[in-house]
Amino acid sequence: MFLRVDYNVPLRGTAITDDTRIRATLPTIEYLLAHHAAVIIASHLGRPKGTWKEELSLAPVAHRLSELLHQPVEMAPDCVGSETEAMARSLQPGQLIMLENLRFHPEEEANDQAFAGRLASLADLYVDDAFGAAHRAHASTEAIAHLLPAAAGLLMEREIEALSGALHHAQPPFIAVIGGAKISTKMALIENLLTRVDALIIGGGMANTFLAAKGYEVGSSLVEADLIPMAKELLGRASADRLLLPVDVVVAPNVSSAGQRRTVAVDQVPPDWTIVDAGSASLERFCERIHSSRTVLWNGPMGIFEEPAFAAGTLAIGRCVAASQAESIVGGGDSVAALDQMGLTNSMSHVSTGGGATLEFLEGKTLPGIAVLEQSG
Ligand code: 3PG
Repeated sequence: MFLRVDYNVPLRGTAITDDTRIRATLPTIEYLLAHHAAVIIASHLGRPKGTWKEELSLAPVAHRLSELLHQPVEMAPDCVGSETEAMARSLQPGQLIMLENLRFHPEEEANDQAFAGRLASLADLYVDDAFGAAHRAHASTEAIAHLLPAAAGLLMEREIEALSGALHHAQPPFIAVIGGAKISTKMALIENLLTRVDALIIGGGMANTFLAAKGYEVGSSLVEADLIPMAKELLGRASADRLLLPVDVVVAPNVSSAGQRRTVAVDQVPPDWTIVDAGSASLERFCERIHSSRTVLWNGPMGIFEEPAFAAGTLAIGRCVAASQAESIVGGGDSVAALDQMGLTNSMSHVSTGGGATLEFLEGKTLPGIAVLEQSG
């Protein structure tokens, strides 16, 4: 059994700083082992660009997985080659091995057929639990699924169910809270969501472009000037009650002068000052809407979350979503980190393990790693 997972986890040296993606695949692995499968686990880690980079070896991940499963996870010397093939052949039901980083070979990202054939030759079945990599058409996420009987793993299934549930069968009122620094990375998401939600809350740096489009002074805050016309168009399309922007903001002379921060109305941003977070009146208004919703989707921070002094808005949204009775779906690194920081992750209905994959799914795009499973299903 060839099991593709997304163990692209953050590392400090060889220490894994967040093992969420490993833990999220345990139900699939435990299911397979309990059903006497011999499991060959494959993943990428980082972006080695087709060259061997010792610091991106999956060995620390195999070690962590072995701790979580209380079972040995032997590391193969590579993901292809005679030694790896011999290890795969001698693997017994109920045992598992981990292949070395797929991206040490340029053929992986090239979706190379012959390379996919070599991976496929290690096993007789393919299970894909790598939701986080489903937006990549790579040899181990796309080509291989044409070569072996293929199925989605339990994590893949859960992600698709939760995210498509929000997009297509959300219980109204459905509220989306979208934040983050740059509007350019979220425009497709906003456009897709606006056709589906009862209200869309916009916060974070990307709200600045909307505030500028409304004619407000935003000082030295990040604004994507080329997207102002698009922001104007969206504002014209949705009423102020459906597209909610901050009514007040936290401002500071610059990001390293947190001590001087203060809250002002959106039309009172001092020239040359920077918007760093959502203000308390905005948060109260956002939270009211979240509390009256039955489905809430949250993606992205409300301010410069990596600066503790400017993280209050993001943390407040996390607390508010956690306290609401709504079906809650959360994606995006900073939103997930905020929940983690407050110990609120388990209060959510679904926390997505994807980064780019979650975003593209919610934009309504077809993800190649999912499309190929649907074809073979
Ligand atoms: C991720 O971390 O979002 C996935 O593992 C995909 O990684 P990539 O952006 O390097 O393809």
